[in-house]
Amino acid sequence: MGHATITLRPATAARSPALKGDIRIPGDKSISHRSFMFGGLASGETRITGLLEGEDVINTGKAMQAMGASIRKDGSTWIINGVGNGCLLAPEAPLDFGNAGTGCRLTMGLMGPYDFETTFIGDASLSRRPMGRVLDPLRQMGVQVRAEAGDRLPVTLRGPRAPAPISYRVPMASAQVKSAVLLAGLNIPGITTVIEPVMTRDHTEKMLKGFGAALEVDTDADGVRTIRLEGRGVLKGQTIDVPGDPSSTAFPLVAALIVPGSDVIIRNVLMNPTRTGLIQTLQEMGADIEILDPRQAGGEDMADLRVRSSELKGVTVPADRAPSMIDEYPVLAIAASFARGETMMPGLEELRVKESDRLAAVARGLELNGVDCTEGEDWLSVRGRPDGKGFGARSKDAVVATWLDHRIAMSFLVMGLASEHPVHVDDCAIIATSFPEFMDMMTGMGAEITRT
Ligand code: S3P
Repeated sequence: MGHATITLRPATAARSPALKGDIRIPGDKSISHRSFMFGGLASGETRITGLLEGEDVINTGKAMQAMGASIRKDGSTWIINGVGNGCLLAPEAPLDFGNAGTGCRLTMGLMGPYDFETTFIGDASLSRRPMGRVLDPLRQMGVQVRAEAGDRLPVTLRGPRAPAPISYRVPMASAQVKSAVLLAGLNIPGITTVIEPVMTRDHTEKMLKGFGAALEVDTDADGVRTIRLEGRGVLKGQTIDVPGDPSSTAFPLVAALIVPGSDVIIRNVLMNPTRTGLIQTLQEMGADIEILDPRQAGGEDMADLRVRSSELKGVTVPADRAPSMIDEYPVLAIAASFARGETMMPGLEELRVKESDRLAAVARGLELNGVDCTEGEDWLSVRGRPDGKGFGARSKDAVVATWLDHRIAMSFLVMGLASEHPVHVDDCAIIATSFPEFMDMMTGMGAEITRT
């Protein structure tokens, strides 16, 4: 199976003057994927504003089109006419999810119970990532699976004639696995049950309910959640205004904290408590983050943030906070590099199976740029230097390997803004998967980032 050849675009970030600006953060990636998927599945019209138009989300939209959904854009509104629950069509070609684990794994769940073949492919990064975590529960439902060794892509699924609902305890903290099982349950008669010992982002539950699914969540005294979904119900098109992505927010936010004299307002940020672990951690480190105009919109907590550069100190991040900031550790490690003392980050086993092995990618990048850090099996510790003295590339050859990982690229570009010497990354093209506006937004605030 051929993959598109990727042209790497190197970039460099250099020590920058105080960052100033008032920016509006683009739509949340998790909610954008789900908006296309649930809109494509539901009966009638779904209207979406604020959608993240990153490559990952666009690939999910193309997959839904290949399965019969009609998707078009009118001005800034995306208009979807869905097929109706249970009525997706067999795609004529393999579905290519590019770099996106969320698009791929959730669609595997969605398609698993259908009695026809669906093939899933992706880029070199996605093809290295484990799919067994989704394929295992699908096998329990009776889905036939053909996959590369180690349950890697390409994967072909074929549902059974009579799929059976399961009760599944999610073995790792993963919203993608939880969601895949629930989405499979949409096209299985009876009650599909997901038991989630550690709460992860709850966008699937909230949004499915909004689309009319019969879904209930019980949380016991220990915080274990039991989610029950009745299959084969009717889903109805909705109007969605996608809130700004807290995971994208993390990059300008940390940049403003570490570049002296900065004062930045970031508007439209989703403050769902399953996503705010980074803000909490940075505040514990002494960050000056003011939460302005906290409000509710579309059933979600939202706010604007005012961020001023701050003297940070190292902390120990509780391991049980990891699910609420899982995508933010690379940029937290950058903040920690500019904090006084040591920051200890335990409970990071899931970082090894993201778009890259983020534990290794971060540790190698920090070492290359003069930061004192230690990489453990499932933890990272960083000993910082508030002045950034000695940080950055000593030679032009000291280039951070980003491994097709947007968050590694953005994190190290942020690092360069406060380091004594520039920081080079081998690629910035991959940033377009989640945050196409990143370069312009950062340079617009005064960041010295250039494509090299
Ligand atoms: C996501 C879940 C997380 C996260 C990813 C988006 C989602 O992945 O890292 O960026 O939208 O459900 P895991 O489920 O693998 O933790």
